[in-house]
Amino acid sequence: MPNAPFSRRRFVSGISAAVAAVPYCISGTTSLLSMLSGCSPSPEESSLKEIAHRHGFVYGAAATKTHLSSDPGFAASLTSQSGILVPEVELKWDTLRPTPESFNFQPVDWLHNFADQNHMKFRGHPLVWYQSLPKWFDSHVTHQNAKEFMINHISTVCGRYSGKMHSWDVVNEALDPNENRPYGLRSKPWVNLVGPDYIDDAFRAAAEADPNAMLVWNENHLETREDWAQAKRERMIENLKLRLGRGVSIHAVGLQSHLPGTSPTFNNPEFVSFLQTVTDLGVKVIVSELDVIDSDLPEDIEGRDRAVANVYYDYLSVVLRSSKVPAVLTWGISDRYSWISAYKPRKDNARARPLPLDENLQPSPAWSAMARAFEESGAQ
Ligand code: XIL
Repeated sequence: MPNAPFSRRRFVSGISAAVAAVPYCISGTTSLLSMLSGCSPSPEESSLKEIAHRHGFVYGAAATKTHLSSDPGFAASLTSQSGILVPEVELKWDTLRPTPESFNFQPVDWLHNFADQNHMKFRGHPLVWYQSLPKWFDSHVTHQNAKEFMINHISTVCGRYSGKMHSWDVVNEALDPNENRPYGLRSKPWVNLVGPDYIDDAFRAAAEADPNAMLVWNENHLETREDWAQAKRERMIENLKLRLGRGVSIHAVGLQSHLPGTSPTFNNPEFVSFLQTVTDLGVKVIVSELDVIDSDLPEDIEGRDRAVANVYYDYLSVVLRSSKVPAVLTWGISDRYSWISAYKPRKDNARARPLPLDENLQPSPAWSAMARAFEESGAQ
């Protein structure tokens, strides 16, 4: 029965069912779920927003105007749990720039007002990215005008919301070590069109247009164990040292955190020392697009939810313990609307379950895992 109101009985029965499903956990290790059933706050007592706030950071999620304006139940769930909102698609060039001369700010204004009316902070994503570029981009943006185009875009967009933004992803996915270029930069299109220092130019333009916003370098694949992820972490550190050394205001690194559901623990020396090095450079860490990809997990929902919850708890515990984290955002909040179903569809076509609320807007074990990790995070 979708949208059935929260009932403590429903919530606890859900969890105890999950606990019952994993007898081996209770006997051996203090499994996450036995911990969860024991002492996590229930959604009635505290929302993720409140728990995060109590521990000195903000929790929130990405959403689209389409979903928030057409699904009141979803909108209510998001506002009850979230202290910050980020547009999932409305600030991307293909949506925001219908023509080279124009900006379509209406959807962003709607989302900003929605956040305002619901006492949520607002963050922007992304100002400069190699994807989601408009059809006219390749025919209009040249070596001669690319820098001006980029800076005009940043000044116009940041200028419009100046003083009203929690933070901006100034650059997104700018690294691709596989290209073996200096500092591991992705070449297309911005390095090719503007040069390797387009990143400095972008941060300077953003800092000028909105001196109050936290300016973020958002990146993917910095969290996992593969060699190329380690290479990416090393390139990120090199870039931070280079650009901070030039006086460029990079206030935080955004860890996208689209995590495989089969991930081993994130409590490993490579990742932890990366987080500590970023912190030692005076740079904060934002968990900017968290979700757990369950496409390689078993179909059985309890098993899948257990594995997803374990990854949430393990990852957040490590990141919140190892770095200064002003914000944690999930990429969506309910399985009802998650890009994962399209990005990493399951072979069995079952709906992905990567987020803290299930498709019926009910808390999943991932919700409790996040609540627990937030509670244990101490003060940021
Ligand atoms: C995704 C959106 O969720 C999808 O709806 C859209 O079709 C493609 O982009 N990294 C990012 C996000 O920085 O902007 C992407 O969002 C997901 C990966």
